[in-house]
Amino acid sequence: TAQKQDRFMGETVNYDEDSVPPYVLPPLLKTLKGKTVSNTTTWEKVRRPEIIHLFEENVYGYTPSAFDSIRYRVTNDEPAAMTGRAHLKEVAVSVWNRGKSVTINLVLFTPNKQSRPAPVFLLINNRGKRNTDPTRAVKSEFWPAEMVIDSGFAIAAFHVSDVAPDNKTNYQQGVLDQLFPEQLGRADGMKAIGAWAWAASRVMDYLQTDPAINPKQVAIVGHSRGGKTSLWAGAQDQRFAMVVSSCSGSSGASLARRQYGETISLINKQFGYWFNDNYKKYSHNEAALPVDQHMLLALIAPRPLYTTNAVEDRWADPRGSYLSVVNALPAYQLYDKKLTLPLEMPATNKPVWKSAIGYHYREGKHDLNLYDWTEVVRFAQIQFKTK
Ligand code: GCU
Repeated sequence: TAQKQDRFMGETVNYDEDSVPPYVLPPLLKTLKGKTVSNTTTWEKVRRPEIIHLFEENVYGYTPSAFDSIRYRVTNDEPAAMTGRAHLKEVAVSVWNRGKSVTINLVLFTPNKQSRPAPVFLLINNRGKRNTDPTRAVKSEFWPAEMVIDSGFAIAAFHVSDVAPDNKTNYQQGVLDQLFPEQLGRADGMKAIGAWAWAASRVMDYLQTDPAINPKQVAIVGHSRGGKTSLWAGAQDQRFAMVVSSCSGSSGASLARRQYGETISLINKQFGYWFNDNYKKYSHNEAALPVDQHMLLALIAPRPLYTTNAVEDRWADPRGSYLSVVNALPAYQLYDKKLTLPLEMPATNKPVWKSAIGYHYREGKHDLNLYDWTEVVRFAQIQFKTK
């Protein structure tokens, strides 16, 4: 039987459902002035901006809204890639601010079979660059480009290292020290996750200009730290028409107040450079955090949201992630009164798709694999009405 607790970095890690402390989530549908949110107007005009502000201030940091210019340069163009099934474009997306620039290298395959603009999945790649190999000499379930193309979608990716290296010693090298150095001196300044999410929006700027892409059907995808980022990117940038977050865990989809698996303290100790400095105040102090992660998911409403968990990934607290979706539901219900979800987690390998919400809990380990992509693609075909 599975161990109920573990030790890590000098702390106890809880894996026992019975040891989850009692907790009260911050109210989703009550404004800071105490007004109950009962319609989409108050949600969109008052409560949604309040919640974004709370996440900026306390978790991910502020995202700068301005920069001087952006330029797109196609560095490789192969109209008959994948034995003719796809058009490959590699695009250098360069963003300039005060005389300095950063370049995000985008890999994009669009399907050749259809003439109308395609829906696209954009992956925030936080693993090896070979996972998104444009030559297709290396193929990976993390980014199964052939399967996605054959399903009628385009598929794209950029690597986080172009933007902010995923390392506590040099995460500054990129967007932060080149374009927005003032962020580094602020307790509420964005760090790595903020920079990655910002970059996803710059890639979105490009995708809106590519005639092969349907700009209203861009889905942002991320796994784990990339899944935390896809949620934050989708929460802020409503041009993302769908958000997919795989095994995002602590400070992603999972409820912090459950303190199950990775806690705020543990993530701050190991990966403090992902979050703003203010987030450090909530280590061993979850109850003081004015948000919990269900509020992040709620910011995606009414757009389609697909989250996943894996059985062997207790570190990411699968149950806390599903409960987060359940607790985000009231925001979705402002748009879709009939939407409900089972209160208990679904069985393994039994995806739950209810209107704009998709969720599955699959067998196996912490990963983004072909099972995940297959279910996500089928869900997207329904959401985007491409079938
Ligand atoms: C670590 C980290 C998690 C993160 C994961 C990943 O396990 O503690 O928060 O999600 O790495 O990105 O794979």
